[in-house]
Amino acid sequence: MERREYLQIPGPTNVPNRILRTLSMPLINHRGPEFEKLLTNCVDGLKKIFRTNNDILMFPSSGSGALESAIVNLFSPGDTIVTACHGLFSERVALIAERYRVNTIKIQKEWGEVVKVEDIETVLKQDVEKKIKAVCLPQNETTSGIVNDIETVGKMMKESGHPALLIVDVVSSLACLPFETDAWGVDVAITASQKGFMLPPGLSIIAISERAWKLSEESKLPKWYWDYKAVRAKMEQKQLPYTPPTTLLFGLKESLDIIEEEGLENVWTRHAIMAEATRNSITAMGLTLFSEVGYQSDTVTAINMPDGIKFEEFSTILREKYGVVIGGGLQQLQGKIFRIGHLGSVHKLDIYAVMGAIEMSLFELGYKIELGTASKAVAGTFLKYSF
Ligand SMILES: Cc1ncc(COP(=O)(O)O)c(C=O)c1O
Repeated sequence: MERREYLQIPGPTNVPNRILRTLSMPLINHRGPEFEKLLTNCVDGLKKIFRTNNDILMFPSSGSGALESAIVNLFSPGDTIVTACHGLFSERVALIAERYRVNTIKIQKEWGEVVKVEDIETVLKQDVEKKIKAVCLPQNETTSGIVNDIETVGKMMKESGHPALLIVDVVSSLACLPFETDAWGVDVAITASQKGFMLPPGLSIIAISERAWKLSEESKLPKWYWDYKAVRAKMEQKQLPYTPPTTLLFGLKESLDIIEEEGLENVWTRHAIMAEATRNSITAMGLTLFSEVGYQSDTVTAINMPDGIKFEEFSTILREKYGVVIGGGLQQLQGKIFRIGHLGSVHKLDIYAVMGAIEMSLFELGYKIELGTASKAVAGTFLKYSF
């Protein structure tokens, strides 16, 4: 029998039925008036989500492509940038930069720890010649379930007088966690379709400040597909330089409508409450959270695997018996943690169901727990709020 599946990995996320229906709409001419209107609506809606008046560019690509686009458009070989390195995705930025012969000053932390504003401030202060061109970090490091405080970093950078740009990966946080491109002084914000926007993967989106455009004038790295100027020029004509993923734009328009109907700030609040219920349920079951206390993500919770339980067996029971799919640890965290994604289209009873399934699966594997503990903690959290 067909049953409801719970895709609780930290992206791609569950796609709401309203969006699924738009994905089956007949295609339109991507150089015609209907597309012009669609693109305009999407860009206007995206500005509200990024909270920006900056230019918005789009690429038919995954999030990693958009990270690469920022490197090739802004820098030249021999330039220096600062990169946070505390998880797979933050480290990916350094890897891309180095591949293009851009030097990186890495702020290396254990996976699970945040990069603090003081870490960045120290590096910028040491740079008396002001050679550093940019500071790059994720708002949410999906690998380890932690959140960097971008607002404070942006404020510090503004006050420091250092000209470095602030480049933020918001792939697993935009339209989920509070984020203010303009108010926080973020020059380049990068995201992708498959997380907070509740869409299939395949579309990346970037917001670019005037300061970033200025720096791009000096960039000597080669680019064609990723050329921001070419994309901007075409987007001014309400087109893309190449065939766009029109279907994803149908979905994006629907996603923006859904978010607007709920209200962006209500979306943020919902994510915070879903995450709190998840964490409360996890700790009530006697499990421990992996990520640094006080910086735990409201889009993905990382949990230490309890002693004696193997991720493979645990995730197989969850998937096969209950239709709940969770994420494992990546690379050095493989087998050590599991991750529950609670971003995008996630509501109270989803968390109730997922935590119940986790409890039953652990119980079946011999984990000592009084049944009902998980749901009690979830219910106790939700009932605290009028939401
Ligand atoms: C924070 C973050 N940055 C970058 C990426 C890479 O995005 P993609 O897999 O779409 O290339 C991901 C993917 O999960 C991510 O979570």
